[in-house]
Order: sequence, then C-alpha cells, then structure tokens
Amino acid sequence: MPHRINPDAIEIASRDEISALQLKRLKWSLAHAYDNVDHYKRSFDAAGVHPDDLTSLEDLSKFPFTVKDDLRQNYPFGMFAVPREKVVRVHASSGTTGKPTVVGYTQNDIDMWAELMARSTRAAGGRPGDIAHIAYGYGLFTGGLGAHYGAERLGCTVIPMSGGQTEKQVQLIQDFKPSIIMVTPSYMLAIADEFERQGLDARESSLRIGLHGAEPWTESMRREIETRCGIDAIDLYGLSEIIGPGVSCECIETKDGLHVWEDHFYPEIIDPDTGAVLPDGEEGELVFTSLTKEAFPIIRYRTRDLTKLLPGTARSMRRMQKVTGRTDDMMIIRGVNVFPSQIEELILKDDRLSPHYVLEIGRKEHLDTLTVKVEIKPDLAKASAMEVATCANDLKHHIKSFIGVTTKVSIVGEGEVPRSMGKAQRVIDKR
Ligand code: DLL
Repeated sequence: MPHRINPDAIEIASRDEISALQLKRLKWSLAHAYDNVDHYKRSFDAAGVHPDDLTSLEDLSKFPFTVKDDLRQNYPFGMFAVPREKVVRVHASSGTTGKPTVVGYTQNDIDMWAELMARSTRAAGGRPGDIAHIAYGYGLFTGGLGAHYGAERLGCTVIPMSGGQTEKQVQLIQDFKPSIIMVTPSYMLAIADEFERQGLDARESSLRIGLHGAEPWTESMRREIETRCGIDAIDLYGLSEIIGPGVSCECIETKDGLHVWEDHFYPEIIDPDTGAVLPDGEEGELVFTSLTKEAFPIIRYRTRDLTKLLPGTARSMRRMQKVTGRTDDMMIIRGVNVFPSQIEELILKDDRLSPHYVLEIGRKEHLDTLTVKVEIKPDLAKASAMEVATCANDLKHHIKSFIGVTTKVSIVGEGEVPRSMGKAQRVIDKR
C-alpha cells in the first residue's frame, strides 16, 4: 500500500457519510457482542433489549453500560468474542486494586489499531521517513507497542526505547536525531530536565513533535513542554479497553481538542450520576462503543474520563475536549470538589515553581487535609527561607481563592518529588 500523506477519505467525509457508516457498523458490533459473549447476552436480556432493536444511532442509549468491574468479573478471557486461537495478542492494565483487566486483539484488530495510530501520528504532523523515538513503556501497557506499530505503519523509522533510563533517552535523541517523540507529558518533562542536567538545550535537539497522553495534562503543561523542548506538543488519547493509544488525537494545524476516530468508535457523553446521554457541547463522562473490533467488542464502556464532544474542525470527525480529569480523580476536601488539573494550572502560573508536584490527602482530627508538595525551580535552589515561605503562601492563597479549598503547601528542592517513567501518580491518599 502506498504511504498516504493526505487524510483518509473518511476523515474528511460528510457527517451523513460518517453516521451511515457508524449505523451499519454499530448493528454488526451489537450482534457480534450479543451472539458471542455471554456477558453481553445476559446484560442485554436483563435490560430487555436485542441488537435488532437498534434502528438509529440514538437507539444505542437503550443498551446497558459496561464498566471496569464487568471485565474483572470475566477475568481473564471471558469477554472475548472469538475462539482464543484467533487472539494474536493480549494487553492488560494493572489497576490499583485486584485483578488486572485483560483485553485481546485478532490480527484484524491489530491492523485497525496500527492504522489509527498511523492516522494519529500523521494528524500530529508526522510523515513517512520521520524517525520516531518511543518512550512509552513496552509490555502489557498498550502505550509502547501501540505507538510502535502505528509509527511503523506510517513508514517511520522507529526507536523502541521504552520508558526509563533517562540519561540514555537523551543520548539516543542526541545521536539518532528523531523528529518525533511519543511519551507521557510528565516523563517528557523529566527528559527535558535531564537535557539541562547534561548542559544541553532541549530546544536545540532534532525533536519537532511530541505525541503525549496516557495521563491528564493541562494547557499550561502543554506550553511548558513546548517552550522548554521547542516542539509542537500534541494530545493523544486512548485506553486499553478500546484499543490503547490512538482512539483520538489532535491535529497539528489546530491543536484544539482531539478528533475521535469515529469510523471505529462511537462516542457518547453521559451524566455520570444518572447515565442520561447529554447533547454535544455538554460536559460529562465519556462512553465508547467499538464498531469494528472482533476479539474484544465493547459496548457503552464507561471510561470515567470527563470531557465534552465538539464539532469537527481540521477533520470532519467530532472532537473531544482535552480530558482534564477522571470521575475517580476528583478529591472531595471538606466538601469542595478538587481536580489535580486545577492545582496544576495554578502551579504552572507561578514561574518560581517547577511542574513536578504531588498531592497528598490526609486526615487530621476527622477532617481531610490536602498537602501540595511542589518543587522550586532549580535556578532558585538558593532562595532564602523567607522567599520560599512567600512562594508557598502565594500558592496557598491562589488555591484558596480560585478553588476554594485550604491547603498546606510544601515547597521542596529539585528531585524531591519522585519522577514517573510513565504515568505520573499525582495523588497520594494517606487516609
Ligand atoms: O493510557 C493508552 C495510551 C497510551 C494513551 C499512550 C495515550 C498514549 P490505559 O493505561 O488503559 O491506556 O489508561 C487509560 O488514561 O481512561 C484516561 O484516564 C487516561 N488517558 C489516556 N490518554 C489521555 C490523555 C492508555 N491524552 C486512561 N489525556 C484513560 C488525559 C488520558 N488522560
């Protein structure tokens, strides 16, 4: 197949064409799940719905949701819709409690995923012939292999570096001169720090484009990465239950939210409390239904990610707004709802502070406490105790006035907040 530089025809097709394709594929996907996965047969029957009841896209709202616990209940292979021998790969996400969730792919599923990751990389500005440095972890996590197959499919030269060994990351970037890097935003910053530590300027490296995802990151974090590394930092989203990276991606020409590859996944936004479907433009929980997956069809999967759907711009497929939080990331501190991203915005507004932070929730005399531990910029390492105290007070004051919660701010030196090699852990609950 010749390498395509222009968008696929479907990426710029009319809304009617996209909807018609979705309806046809959705009917297939519902029947495939119902006929081949016990869980779906039971859950559709219990809800009194049958795949034949779907005559329009809106009818999907009659079907039951799938949640992470359903996958755990069917551990390890109970959600597969094809004989095990047809499954050419499994991935798993560790999760914080209990059993991991396991997902599987047929050869066609792997091809579709590679195609969509190639499409994402191209939307981000990547082209055949580019050198792509992959610093997402390889293994059961979908980041490394997902990014890898996509970049290869696009026709890039792939450096399968994986996460960790930060010194070597910098060395290989200097020596192999990649133009693309694929890595979590938090680890990108750790790599930028390492450039500085080695007396190098990351802005002068060969890197041109970063595809960043796997964790929430704010617009301020994007600016920080772009200025420090001299690249276009593009948002890439995905989750293993759907495919992995490449479910949606921003386009370099607009950077205005992530185009959902709607020819393969049907997105809905619901009210997380009632489950009601919300109209485009309203914020709620993102729900996905796979349209073409064979091994692991997934119907109305509740991602717990909060976002809204917006009309297409650079592509005709709808965009999802940058995900800035998950329903389960929300901290409730003495009655006030707080997302880590809100605190991140305020930290990054202060040019005395570095973007390395962690939030600790504790309990004192039956009341929840929130401590923001954040590093001071390395060039202020010699700041006086008074200057550090002023800085801490300023942040505390900003958090109180913008978010409404009282916090303790602890300013620490460089390297005192543990660096992630992949997904950053922003919240530590010590209660
Ligand atoms: O994180 C897949 C991935 C790898 C995406 C590399 C992008 C890049 P999981 O480990 O299953 O899969 O975690 C999925 O991570 O539900 C979101 O909460 C979060 N997430 C992923 N991408 C983004 C993003 C991979 N761009 C979970 N912005 C999802 C915010 C993201 N959160």
